[in-house]
Amino acid sequence: MKALVLDAEARTANLQDVLKPSPAEGQILVEVQAISLNPIDPLYVANPLGSTGRTVGSDFAGTVSALGCNVPSSSNLEVGDRVAGFLQGACSVNERPGAFAEYLVIDWDLVFKIPDSVSTEEASGVSLVALTAAQGLYYRLGLEAPFAWDKKNMLAEHPELEPHHTEYADKSKPINVFIYSASTAVGLYGAQLARLSAKASGWTIKLFGAASKARWDMLKAEPYSYDQLVDYRDSDWSEQIINLSKGARMDYVYDCISEDSTVEQAASTLASNGKMAIVRSRDAGAWTSGPLPVEPMYGAVWEGLGADVHYGLGSNRAPVLRSPAARAFAVEFYKWVSQALGSKLRHVPIRVMPGGLERVTADGLVLLGAGTMEDREHKRTEEYMKPVSAEKLVYRFV
Ligand SMILES: NC(=O)c1ccc[n+]([C@@H]2O[C@H](COP(=O)([O-])OP(=O)(O)OC[C@H]3O[C@@H](n4cnc5c(N)ncnc54)[C@H](OP(=O)(O)O)[C@@H]3O)[C@@H](O)[C@H]2O)c1
Repeated sequence: MKALVLDAEARTANLQDVLKPSPAEGQILVEVQAISLNPIDPLYVANPLGSTGRTVGSDFAGTVSALGCNVPSSSNLEVGDRVAGFLQGACSVNERPGAFAEYLVIDWDLVFKIPDSVSTEEASGVSLVALTAAQGLYYRLGLEAPFAWDKKNMLAEHPELEPHHTEYADKSKPINVFIYSASTAVGLYGAQLARLSAKASGWTIKLFGAASKARWDMLKAEPYSYDQLVDYRDSDWSEQIINLSKGARMDYVYDCISEDSTVEQAASTLASNGKMAIVRSRDAGAWTSGPLPVEPMYGAVWEGLGADVHYGLGSNRAPVLRSPAARAFAVEFYKWVSQALGSKLRHVPIRVMPGGLERVTADGLVLLGAGTMEDREHKRTEEYMKPVSAEKLVYRFV
């Protein structure tokens, strides 16, 4: 089969013929029909951790081609079903599978079934970013989730995730939630998951966001329904947030960029007992700050895969992330997504890129840059090469 394969020495990825995988016990074989790009895909092609020969890429959607042994009948999965999920790609030092290939294998419970109202292309961009937002809001910040999951087990495994004050505080007072970079794919799910949390818990959530003005109409409308927005291009955006909340400050902050000074500035909007989650770690050097009122919580979405993952750049190798509780959370989340997508949960708009796997390196990886938002600048002029804004880049396999 064809796969997009890392060339670590040349810091690129090329289309190659590789062996088609077979599903092991508890796994399914998926014929991939669409893939979607994430910033980590080009990040770890330009700064390779994996060795040459690894298949790159995270997000995919396609059809079940075969079931491995011991896939339980309770999975309700059959050959021909449309499913979506994500894999590690070449984003780790240790050997892990990637998704940008004609076929892949994955544990049966780490995919979601695509509802009829959602196309395979639309579904391909959901898994990684939606789970990132769910982990950030529901188990790092501690907002109530609209589905049941094992909090007790999570707290036993991660005692640092103590329950937040929403567990005991006055329900009649609104909770202020601030999402920095509301138009990122992660932020678009973050706002929806915050709104669904309010519905599930009975709390009133006031949603504050920072995004470019061009995205305000979209973000004020359902399903995001922001109460207040500021422009991240204004240098005083954090003061504007404090003014808009009439000095009440933020109970929860989710920084969906976490680069340069964004963490420090976003943290300055927090109430004294507030909590903050970020998407890039302090150790990786993406952001700097002086002393912060609270240490923001970071985690990598890969922990949802429940495997050992070694990653990080330079000397900042992150520790092993194997977490059965995080995997169990991902399984419950994807069960919920297979019901909610297309009705309660809206997929992020997609940009279908020209060509298939063979164009990913030349176009898609270039558009997402090699690490920071600034790295995304390029000189190409084609319409499909305009900057990514509130959307997912998708390649369709014909
Ligand atoms: N920890 C994890 O496991 C994890 C998982 C997923 C993603 N991430 C990280 O999360 C970040 C967001 O990922 P994504 O896929 O959601 O990104 P994305 O959708 O590709 O981000 C594009 C958006 O970023 C906005 N933007 C660009 N520069 C900005 C700035 N300086 N301040 C505020 N907004 C800015 C743009 O807004 P405008 O178009 O309106 O200008 C655009 O809508 C990435 O760094 C990614 O690596 C981490």
